[in-house]
Amino acid sequence: MTETAAAAEGRIHEFTTQSGADTIEVGRQLVRLLNPPQLLLLRGELGTGKTTLVKGIVQALDAAEPDEVTSPTFTLLHEYEGVRDGQPIRLYHLDVYRLDSERQLETLGLDDLLTPDALVLVEWGDKFKSIRKRATGEIAIALAGGDARKITVTLKE
Ligand SMILES: Nc1ncnc2c1ncn2[C@@H]1O[C@H](COP(=O)(O)OP(=O)(O)OP(=O)(O)O)[C@@H](O)[C@H]1O
Ligand SMILES: [Mg+2]
Repeated sequence: MTETAAAAEGRIHEFTTQSGADTIEVGRQLVRLLNPPQLLLLRGELGTGKTTLVKGIVQALDAAEPDEVTSPTFTLLHEYEGVRDGQPIRLYHLDVYRLDSERQLETLGLDDLLTPDALVLVEWGDKFKSIRKRATGEIAIALAGGDARKITVTLKE
């Protein structure tokens, strides 16, 4: 299927932002598109704004304020309990940048996280085949000159 047809079906969404605050706002808007269960790859070079985007998603789910959302660089996994349209949502924010092998990844128990009420967002998840295989979509952030970023959300269905 061409990208245009996929976009017409509402599976591809594009945003351009000019600041971190803008990207947080896009994160807030994204929440309505993300129906659990969902495992999304957060793609983009170091420092493009993956964690910044998660701040908005977490805030829109009433799970925490943006400044309480930090990078799970060393802890690997942060869990938030939120709500959307009265339905509880569990948000898992992972960063697997520092993991080197599928074996290390197994300790995270990814399959156990993906419950029917779960949104799982994985920074650097595209490093691992097992995560790519489970992904229901991706959010890609690309530099677009200065502080600008292009954010492309692709959902498989
Ligand atoms: N348009 C923008 N969108 C997002 N962040 C921006 C933007 N412009 C500037 N920034 C700044 O860029 C930085 C992005 O950092 P962030 O931790 O979100 O990146 P990351 O992609 O998660 O990096 P890493 O791969 O190291 O985890 C923040 O300091 C943010 O304020
Ligand atoms: Mg990050």
